[in-house]
Amino acid sequence: MAPHVIVGQVLVPVLLVGMASHVINRVLITAMECRCAKIALCDPVDGSCTCRNGFSGTLCDKECLCPDGSPCQSDGSCACERGWTGQRCDQPCPLGTFGTGCSQECLCQNGAHCNQTDGTCTCSSGWMGEVCDVGCQEGYYGLECRDVCSCVNGANCSHTSGSCFCAPGWIGETCSEMCPENFFGEGCRTDCLCQNGAHCHHKDGHCDCSPGWTGDLCDERCPQGSYGMDGWPTWMDWGLVY
Ligand SMILES: *[C@@H]1O[C@H](CO)[C@@H](O)[C@H](O)[C@H]1NC(C)=O
Ligand SMILES: *[C@@H]1O[C@H](CO)[C@@H](O)[C@H](O)[C@H]1NC(C)=O
Repeated sequence: MAPHVIVGQVLVPVLLVGMASHVINRVLITAMECRCAKIALCDPVDGSCTCRNGFSGTLCDKECLCPDGSPCQSDGSCACERGWTGQRCDQPCPLGTFGTGCSQECLCQNGAHCNQTDGTCTCSSGWMGEVCDVGCQEGYYGLECRDVCSCVNGANCSHTSGSCFCAPGWIGETCSEMCPENFFGEGCRTDCLCQNGAHCHHKDGHCDCSPGWTGDLCDERCPQGSYGMDGWPTWMDWGLVY
């Protein structure tokens, strides 16, 4: 019997020690755990914190102020939706950028507006195309090139504003008016030099002489033996009349 007792005597302390250390372990863990913020979940084994939505940090004590739909990241910052940035995702992407984290560059040209979410371009007046790099086709202007130019008499039309660049000899908003008497050319800015009652052409300023006058400026008398309009041979010139 004696060896049994001895064995038992040996076993008992071992079991006690084991149980005691287990209890001590539990006590130690209990003492260390749950430093997590109150609303966080505390792991019973290692004491790590599992944050509830809206909180972050190892102790879940950092409150995220992310808007709906923007999850909170472990460092407390928000994973912003496309097109937004800033600690609280309340700043639109800086001009010229778009997308997740504002990491993409806008390609829109000629003053187009770039959608901060998907980078699509809204062209400014007079431009079209995916990135607004194409001017309106001849005769059209304005937003989405929907307006029809009203310029006439060979004028060009600004594809952005629709204003007219008149051809020489024409003036007015739509270039529908001839130059006033005694002026010609681009913008009707040039003085006519025709003389002796000649008619001055509104486009190039050439002179149509009145009867009895000749020369570029109609400042020369018709030669002896001829008369009438410059450029029209008289019967005398043809030798038919003497
Ligand atoms: C930008 O694009 C998104 C879709 O990607 C759209 O919902 C939003 O209305 C657009 N914003 C503007 C200002 O056009
Ligand atoms: C119209 O545009 C064409 C091509 O740019 C140019 O050659 C022409 O001189 C312009 N005409 C006017 C009236 O501005």
